[in-house]
Amino acid sequence: MSETKQAEVGDWVGADFFDPSFRDDPYPKLAHLRENDPINLTPVGTWRISRYEDVKAIFNDAPTSMTDKHDDSPNFDPLDTKGSFLEFVLNKDGDAHRRLRMLVQKSFGQKTVRLMEEEVAKTVAAAFDKALADGGMDVVPALAHEVPSRMICQIMGVPMQDRQIFNEWTAARTNAFFAKFLPPDVQERTRNAGAAMEDYFRALITERKKDLGDDLLSSMIMASEGGDKFTDDELIIQAIGVIVAGYETTIGLLGNGTRAFVEHPDQLAKLHDNPELVSNATDECLRFDTPILFNWRVLKRSYELGGVTLPAEAVIWQLLAAANRDPARFADPDHFDIEREDLAHQSFGGGPHFCLGNQLAKMEARYVFNEMAQRTKGLTINASNIEWSHSFFRVMASYPLEFN
Ligand code: HEM
Repeated sequence: MSETKQAEVGDWVGADFFDPSFRDDPYPKLAHLRENDPINLTPVGTWRISRYEDVKAIFNDAPTSMTDKHDDSPNFDPLDTKGSFLEFVLNKDGDAHRRLRMLVQKSFGQKTVRLMEEEVAKTVAAAFDKALADGGMDVVPALAHEVPSRMICQIMGVPMQDRQIFNEWTAARTNAFFAKFLPPDVQERTRNAGAAMEDYFRALITERKKDLGDDLLSSMIMASEGGDKFTDDELIIQAIGVIVAGYETTIGLLGNGTRAFVEHPDQLAKLHDNPELVSNATDECLRFDTPILFNWRVLKRSYELGGVTLPAEAVIWQLLAAANRDPARFADPDHFDIEREDLAHQSFGGGPHFCLGNQLAKMEARYVFNEMAQRTKGLTINASNIEWSHSFFRVMASYPLEFN
């Protein structure tokens, strides 16, 4: 029989994302939530979905939108108007979504990924040359940040010398996706980053219009001057969204994946002996410690899920990180195993919004993990304290390693 829960019974069930201690080790808390209240009404009135099959149903079957019936975001800060993600491809539905997705996606296909491979290989090798000479490295600035920031700036046509200024902006801007629920100081930092990025891209687009190249910004400008009309505001927000997605998520994958290998030296040795496992290993890193713990949908009509009737306009948070460790889907899910078969994780989302940059991110990760396995053979790797970044995503700011 189906059950309808009332908003006043909301509870975090010991897994409050907004508690800073949550991110140190979210997995036992997420497991507790999945086992005890898999379709959980939170104290802020949103629904958290943590079983794999339920997350999949929300992506692929449920009648969903990214916004409420007034086209407003259920998660954004209403005061956050400059550089707002309201008009970003991820926040649109139906035809409006398809139009923007077509504009952005041609720069992230197989062709771009192949063109970038040589550059990625060189950047990763140089980072390890230096680390081995120095006896160690801070993985985040030296590798996890270095590789994606170079690639995304090149793809987009952002001058290479400007890439450092995006460090703080992109991390801060990830908070915009759920800013309504964050403390005032974080909201303010998030708004400031949006304003700075909007000003930056408005100026860059004005410049680029005078001197088009073969980058994403130029191709978006050409599309907007051709048959399909895009306003400068639409272009600016796609640029901000793509640069945030391209930096922060991949920094998370490279950092969290490297950490998984450091903490499981047997798996690093296995990759050293079997480099052909790198593709599987990359998906296992994405499953084991995903950079985006959850994303959202809004129900357009009521929907039955696991014996619960979720009402129309319910705000759903799909817990990708909990689904990825659901024992009903993955055998021994807390075990990091690069030979695992059946790695259909949820880390790139699903349905029409499935991540556009997944091939690029995985290619970068394959080079990083393989180089690490080949170059650190015979060395002992010691890690010191992790520092987390200001990102809303699961991204470290510092992860120093010593090679002995
Ligand atoms: C490990 C790296 C990455 C992860 C874990 C990741 C994850 C995600 C997730 C969870 C979504 C939302 C999907 C949904 O709501 O169903 C998404 C969408 C998106 N991602 Fe990624 N992403 C990664 C890398 C990238 C990169 C490198 C880029 C671009 C350079 C990118 C561009 C995008 C875009 C444009 C969207 C919106 C697509 C749409 O709405 O149609 N992502 N990504």
